Amino acid sequence: MRQDPLQFLSTELDSLRAQGLLRPLRVLEGHQAARARFDGRSVVNLSSNNYLGLTTHPELIARAHQALDEFGVGSGSVRTIAGTMALHMELERRLAIFKRTEAAVVFQSGFTANAGTVSSILTKDDVVVSDELNHASIIDGCRLSRAAIKVFPHKDIDAARRILESLPAGQRKLLITDGVFSMDGDLGRLPDLCALAEAHGAIMMVDDAHASGVFGANGRGTVDHFGTHGRVDVQVGTLSKAIGALGGYVAGSKPLIDFLRHRARPFLFSTSHPPSVAATCIAALDLLESDTTLIARLWSNTQFFKKGLTDLGFDTGMSESPITPVMAGEGSRAMELSDRLMAEGVFAQGIAFPTVARDRARVRTIVTATHTTGELQFALDAFNRVGRELGLI
Ligand SMILES: Cc1ncc(COP(=O)(O)O)c(C=O)c1O
Repeated sequence: MRQDPLQFLSTELDSLRAQGLLRPLRVLEGHQAARARFDGRSVVNLSSNNYLGLTTHPELIARAHQALDEFGVGSGSVRTIAGTMALHMELERRLAIFKRTEAAVVFQSGFTANAGTVSSILTKDDVVVSDELNHASIIDGCRLSRAAIKVFPHKDIDAARRILESLPAGQRKLLITDGVFSMDGDLGRLPDLCALAEAHGAIMMVDDAHASGVFGANGRGTVDHFGTHGRVDVQVGTLSKAIGALGGYVAGSKPLIDFLRHRARPFLFSTSHPPSVAATCIAALDLLESDTTLIARLWSNTQFFKKGLTDLGFDTGMSESPITPVMAGEGSRAMELSDRLMAEGVFAQGIAFPTVARDRARVRTIVTATHTTGELQFALDAFNRVGRELGLI
């Protein structure tokens, strides 16, 4: 009888199970909202990236419906053949205005925006200088580019400088950071990194997936927050988090965007967004540019919840954003914290190795603009009870 060539996968899964790291997918029934129904129970949802609650915003839904009725459910092609609709072009025009750049190009996701961009602008002769906590999509882009990858310790500007100084002046270099680090919620040191990039002739790239819609005027991101407009050559953002829909984009100079339209492989070889997605994103930009109420609400909720956690005595790491980790130590402990919170009616996802270091496992919380104070207090009360039971506070 033929031996199963995939047997090793079951062995791997057994090992994850033994470590308490085998996770079932939580199934959402109904809306992605501040209070939502997962696996049959109603919970306070602290696990989505739906910062502004736009996944269910009536205006965005109406614009999606309108586009569905007018243009159908799909685009039917990749952008470079027959899949560029007027809505895609309009979204890109609007994103460039939003990010204050010459141009922008939309990808199917933030992941493909990062991976497609890094892999197309660099070659094996080039070097990437990258923060150790940069997102997986940046790392994959670096690997695909075959450029040499030099990693500096998290936010260690001196280490980044030493790497840059050690490289030949004529070599092409990309200095890259997340704007907001997705697991710790802290900010990249943009002004310092921009100065380094300028001093060493490096291309400066920022992944603002968790900052767009959250930081800066009208949610323009960390480049706006730090006043570094014009100093970041490549700005990546996502349409899947605060914008509430799906997709990623790159904003920058016109030559950069024209180049990506000719060379970025996800743009060339994967079908473009359904028109309803593009229409939804345009509606989100309309909202962000005209009304900052939701962003203000996001930040007041963030402050309330962070203070609640630290007052209880939890270690919340170095967060500066609505992403607040609650440190738990080992992976199995983070998963236990997450499971016990779920039993108390609070969904806060446990995060363990390989997403974070083995001894830095955590429960990751994200508040949104649409949580009520009552919901956040309910979550804090649950954290208090479970944290004491587990000896975390
Ligand atoms: C920092 C960062 N960059 C990029 C991405 C990818 O974005 P998307 O979910 O749109 O693919 C994510 C999230 O998943 C992220 O956290």
